[in-house]
Amino acid sequence: MHSLPSSTDNLTLHLAILICEVLPPPVSCLRGPFDQIFQNFFDRGAKRLSEDNHDEQWPGIKKQIQVRTTPYNATAGQLPDAEALEGLDALVVTGSSAGAYEDIEWVKKLGRFLQDTYQQHPKVKIFGTCFGHQIINQSLFAHTGGLHVIKNPRGWELGVYEITINPKFASCFPRQLKSAARASSPQIQLQLSHQDTVVVTQSAQLPPECVEVGSTALCGMQGMYVPNRVLTLQAHPEFDREVNGACIRLIVGLDWPAEEIKEYLRMTDKDDDAALMEEVVMEFLLQGSKS
Ligand SMILES: *[C@@H]1O[C@H](CO)[C@@H](O)[C@H](O)[C@H]1NC(C)=O
Ligand SMILES: *[C@@H]1O[C@H](CO)[C@@H](O)[C@H](O)[C@H]1NC(C)=O
Repeated sequence: MHSLPSSTDNLTLHLAILICEVLPPPVSCLRGPFDQIFQNFFDRGAKRLSEDNHDEQWPGIKKQIQVRTTPYNATAGQLPDAEALEGLDALVVTGSSAGAYEDIEWVKKLGRFLQDTYQQHPKVKIFGTCFGHQIINQSLFAHTGGLHVIKNPRGWELGVYEITINPKFASCFPRQLKSAARASSPQIQLQLSHQDTVVVTQSAQLPPECVEVGSTALCGMQGMYVPNRVLTLQAHPEFDREVNGACIRLIVGLDWPAEEIKEYLRMTDKDDDAALMEEVVMEFLLQGSKS
């Protein structure tokens, strides 16, 4: 791809982090602002994939993968221009306390930008978690009539939840999700922190290349995958238990029952499978740029 250096040993991915929430100090003091959290997430994925190169079963990546991120303050309307897009491998859309359906200027601007980029810059992949997942879905696919984003009437998902992976999605990432693909009911655990949700109203209306990632008991739509183009996750695989715990303490108001808060924090303080997702996301970002 355009941003690859000619060296055979290095492969540099250049990603724009579209920051959709300025994390307040109780969260950012733990692992930094969103762009730092994502830089670390991608670095871990790149390292894991490079280390897996010894696996003879999977020739994998023969190069050292490096990830360079550039932050954009999307909440202030700051987004990559056409020239910047030429040098980018992917857009990364973060979480937010805003709703994808809200009448907020920067949210609408971001939605239009994602739509334009998807249509006019097919080489720039789009990845997003939580709010990112919702606004990408809404911007790229709502016009098909196949889905929309709503406040989940079944309530919040806060903490580590079991996601039942769609076998079709698992088969797209066999190295990471092989055991999940074989199980009759493949499951992985990830940190969640959301109330809004994407609802597929008519899956027949969605582009045929769309693969749904999976579902939880409370939220039927845990992510969307279009090979080589788009990956979204309702979960926050970039958050660890401390960061998600700090977010949840901010989300729950003083009026929430203490027992409920305690239960959510207990749900957050659990092991998860984020490491698998680090690799899945990195494999997705490398699609088309290997060899
Ligand atoms: C990003 O924009 C928001 C909203 O305008 C502002 O509050 C915040 O300070 C900005 N952050 C940075 C790092 O410039
Ligand atoms: C958006 O949501 C729909 C419906 O839930 C899902 O099938 C699709 O894969 C999602 N697309 C993206 C890009 O997230």
